[in-house]
Amino acid sequence: MTLPPAARRAVCPGSFDPVTNGHVDIIARAARIYDEVFVAVFVNPSKAGLFSLDERMEMLAEVTPQWPNVSVTSFQGLVVDFCKSNNVGVIVKGVRAVSDFDYELQMAQMNYGLAGVETLFMPTNPVHSFLSSSLVKDVAKWGGDITGHVPEPVAERLVARLRES
Ligand code: PNS
Repeated sequence: MTLPPAARRAVCPGSFDPVTNGHVDIIARAARIYDEVFVAVFVNPSKAGLFSLDERMEMLAEVTPQWPNVSVTSFQGLVVDFCKSNNVGVIVKGVRAVSDFDYELQMAQMNYGLAGVETLFMPTNPVHSFLSSSLVKDVAKWGGDITGHVPEPVAERLVARLRES
């Protein structure tokens, strides 16, 4: 079956402040399904974050070079407008637990209603089911071990950033 071009392109949107191993797992699996995957960092004017947009994108690029069909970018505004501008038919979202599903379902239905963009829910690898950027930042802030939760270059940047503050 031949799919229309938009169906072969997917986006993994998120804040990625910073990227975790849970994100990397979802990106890698999306890259096996779709011809092209955009990892798109949401520019959120109402939330500063620990890392700047450029830093988040740099880290994502550093930890995804092994997937040539993955590119890192950013977007402002609605994710469906990013999809329309880039001919993307599918949003890929990792779902860690049932608690994620409620809001993710609302967003998926809204995005489909707004622009006919589909959402693929990908169950997170259970190894990462409790993982979030916020939790990793909190553990790192208080000197906890984040090995195995974020890629090594990200762990180094996190420790350095928290030392500065
Ligand atoms: O990593 P996060 O913070 O959970 O990602 C949430 C994100 C950025 C994917 C979501 O908030 C989003 O898509 N924002 C873009 C604005 C938008 O389209 N809002 C309407 C969603 S129905």
